[in-house]
Amino acid sequence: MKKVYIKTFGCQMNFHDSERLLGLLNAQGYSAVEDPRDADLIIFNTCSIREKAEQKFFSQLGRTKHVKRRNPSVKIGVAGCIAQQRGEELLKRAPHVDFVLGPQNISRIGEAISTERSVITEENEELHTLDIPAFRKKGVSAWVNIMYGCNNFCSYCIVPYTRGRERSRPADSIVSEIRMLVSEGYKEVTLLGQNVNSYRSETDFVGLLRMVNGIEGLERIRFVTSHPKDLGSDLINAIGELDKVCEHIHLPLQSGSDRILRLMNRKYTMQDYLKKVELLRATVPGIAITTDIIAGFPTETEEDHQATIRALEEIQFDGIFAFKFSPRPMTKASEMKGQLPEEIRLERLNEILRLQDKITERKNALLKDKTVEVLVEGSSESAPELFTGRTRTNKIVNIRADRPLMAGETVKVRITTPHRHSLDGIALS
Ligand code: 5AD
Ligand code: SF4
Repeated sequence: MKKVYIKTFGCQMNFHDSERLLGLLNAQGYSAVEDPRDADLIIFNTCSIREKAEQKFFSQLGRTKHVKRRNPSVKIGVAGCIAQQRGEELLKRAPHVDFVLGPQNISRIGEAISTERSVITEENEELHTLDIPAFRKKGVSAWVNIMYGCNNFCSYCIVPYTRGRERSRPADSIVSEIRMLVSEGYKEVTLLGQNVNSYRSETDFVGLLRMVNGIEGLERIRFVTSHPKDLGSDLINAIGELDKVCEHIHLPLQSGSDRILRLMNRKYTMQDYLKKVELLRATVPGIAITTDIIAGFPTETEEDHQATIRALEEIQFDGIFAFKFSPRPMTKASEMKGQLPEEIRLERLNEILRLQDKITERKNALLKDKTVEVLVEGSSESAPELFTGRTRTNKIVNIRADRPLMAGETVKVRITTPHRHSLDGIALS
């Protein structure tokens, strides 16, 4: 058996792409290894969303030079968003790289490894019609692609340039993939797309959720990512109504300033966003809302930044991911006048993170002595006498139990000690 080592950077979409690369490579006689020195094939599945992700990749790529020196027959490939963005340039810059494979072309991995120094980065109009096998770790939760690409062109974002135009997978092939996953023992699926609310095939996203909700044996449905401009009341109602759809939504706000939102090309105002949050909370009691924030977008004033701070205080998110603005090639925002110095971006990011830490802690504290439903994922890695799982609102729970809990089992848990990033609890049954 040949051996492949895959190192993945970036988002859930990218991690799932690695599972599919592995599914395709399995069929070609490869099995996965954990150490690049044991591998016949090394693949970096890269991310270009921010400069930092890119730097991390380039420094790891540099380190594989000596792996190749020691074992000249090892093949090294670059996949993912940096592959798409840089293409040919990667081969020139790193002579030890054997192939470059963009995210729209993972189905051509066989061709990439069997030809000399190939660069496969064409726009792929068929991607959504292909059923690409995935090799997933055994577990309770699986990722499932429902759409590829993005048409939104937020002014800071490189994704529309790397992942191409938006295309939805046919609903019946999504449903049959999930049926198969359920027969293999998975209990939860996370439907993946850059903007799931604009899913459209024979049906729309709400229609798809209804179909998936009807799959017997499936227990939980999650989805990422939603765009506030496309989040309609029909979807909000469906989240409330469909029993398997979890009470959690990741709804990137990005900024609390209408002026900055306009420059970001987000196509909603703070008022629009607040209305949707209100409707979500009124329709889906107990729903957890998480978000993404960018600190220090070009021209952002202290006043704009304070609008974001006020938004965080007003909305009280369950959790956020916050980032310093990072200028990306090809994007409008990278060319705007008024780029802010690193110190200001960092200062604002830290203020945002400090505030949200307090909010998250306060929110979790409200769960003390409450009973929640947890889908058990297995033993806890840090404390083997404990079990671990997630609430429907996507919070991690460390569970003490007087009997062994099975992965895939749903238990009622009373929360004893809430922390900022997890909850401790006792199984009640
Ligand atoms: N700089 C900083 N953050 C960014 N994101 C996307 N592009 C950039 C960028 N150029 C963030 C957004 C998005 C998340 C996935 O990454 O907040 O929602
Ligand atoms: Fe995912 Fe975006 Fe990074 Fe590509 S650039 S891997 S789509 S986060």
